[in-house]
Amino acid sequence: MARASRLSLYVTIYLFLCLLANLTLVVMFLGGQQHRQHPQARPPPTPTWTPSSGQTLGCGELPVISNLTLIGSGWTKAVYKGWYGSSWVAVKTVHTSGHDMTECNAEVNVCYRRCAEKLMQEAQMLHKLSHNNVIKVFGKCMPKVEYSPGPPKSGVVAVVVELGRPVRVVEVLQMDYEARLQLAMDVGKILKLLAHSPLGPVLMKDFRREQFVIVDGSLKLSDVDDVVVGDPYCTSAKDCVIQDTTKDAILTSVPCDRGLCRGYNSLLNSIYASQHFMRLLIPYGGPAALEKASLHLVDQQVQGKLDSEHLHYAIEALVHNYSVGGYLTNNEKQEIQNFVVFHGSTVEGEDFPCLRTDGSNCIQSVSSPAEGASLCSQLPTCSAFVLMDQWVWTGRQIAVFKMGATKVMENKRHTLYVRRGQG
Ligand SMILES: Nc1ncnc2c1ncn2[C@@H]1O[C@H](COP(=O)(O)OP(=O)(O)OP(=O)(O)O)[C@@H](O)[C@H]1O
Ligand SMILES: *[C@@H]1O[C@H](CO)[C@@H](O)[C@H](O)[C@H]1NC(C)=O
Ligand SMILES: *[C@@H]1O[C@H](CO)[C@@H](O)[C@H](O)[C@H]1NC(C)=O
Repeated sequence: MARASRLSLYVTIYLFLCLLANLTLVVMFLGGQQHRQHPQARPPPTPTWTPSSGQTLGCGELPVISNLTLIGSGWTKAVYKGWYGSSWVAVKTVHTSGHDMTECNAEVNVCYRRCAEKLMQEAQMLHKLSHNNVIKVFGKCMPKVEYSPGPPKSGVVAVVVELGRPVRVVEVLQMDYEARLQLAMDVGKILKLLAHSPLGPVLMKDFRREQFVIVDGSLKLSDVDDVVVGDPYCTSAKDCVIQDTTKDAILTSVPCDRGLCRGYNSLLNSIYASQHFMRLLIPYGGPAALEKASLHLVDQQVQGKLDSEHLHYAIEALVHNYSVGGYLTNNEKQEIQNFVVFHGSTVEGEDFPCLRTDGSNCIQSVSSPAEGASLCSQLPTCSAFVLMDQWVWTGRQIAVFKMGATKVMENKRHTLYVRRGQG
């Protein structure tokens, strides 16, 4: 067959490969692989693997991953969710109908191999960056056989990683302040890691929310196939300027020091993070007294005045301020004197209908009994509040506000504060 017509046949096949077909192919392959490896058609034993077992998965384990469903795809990769052992995992493989494959001018197997190499390099990069805020790699498979079009009978390249959820703006905006603050803290940790990675300063050229996922409320870096290791080379100061997003003004610059733009990657990652994360995460929903400081922080970051290290430090300081109620005024702290404390007591019912306008929940965390008293005092109909035996990650305690304190009950784990002259 002429090469040109063979190529066009390939192209036609790829154009018809929709995402669903992609899934079918992987499932078909996995079924085939299983069959080949177990000629007696004996199903593989149920694996006892857990994410923390430290046992690395390879090509042999891939067929055992069940219940595969497509959960995301980009230019290079298709990402599946699957069940292995007793856990859900994510399986990254080449997106055979993705941009990198369809826009590739070489032979299909050459293109596939390129994408596969990219996937393997990414697995290696994730491994080298190994950190709580970087997706864990559980294993990888790079079959030796060449790829050929059609159902991938000769093998699929795959990297098995920790499963996360995409970062959706709507969901982020609906989170409570504390959950968002935790993501902000993770952004700080990730930026610090990238600035001081074992490989040197790493720049995320394509810094978008899509490069991250959320696992158990923590933000984790998941896509590192478009990064640069090392600050850029320079011969003069003008090589080290950072332009604003529209590229028509100089935003800031770092010094050209012994041939390198020192701190360039750290600063640029921080600027990107301000636009894609911090703006969404910290300014709103917290104590009003922290709003101005938070907006200022984001502003400084947008303008390139905070490199990754300084940003990390600023977020830690913000979280600390929030945890200890550093934003309370002396007057606010005095309100506690208008309350009588009953240790080991609680009030049944009579919950305050709503403290804030943004939710029907009248439960919120406080940094101290004084803050509870201050909040209660601001509400004419608040008669009491109860500190419960629940704490959030910031160390703040959960308080429930009460309209009355008529049904006082014993509860060893609660502390009741009743407002004088009320309830
Ligand atoms: N570990 C994971 N858990 C859950 N979802 C993931 C995971 N990794 C990636 N995804 C989802 O799959 C999508 C595509 O993955 P990824 O970004 O790695 O592909 P890509 O081809 O490199 O994309 P692009 O190059 O276009 O950014 C992501 O946007 C994300 O929503
Ligand atoms: C996987 O799919 C099978 C068949 O649809 C189903 O019975 C099983 O419960 C699924 N497993 C998990 C962990 O969801
Ligand atoms: C907390 O933030 C407020 C408001 O920005 C500021 O006035 C106060 O000094 C900060 N306190 C601490 C302990 O950081």
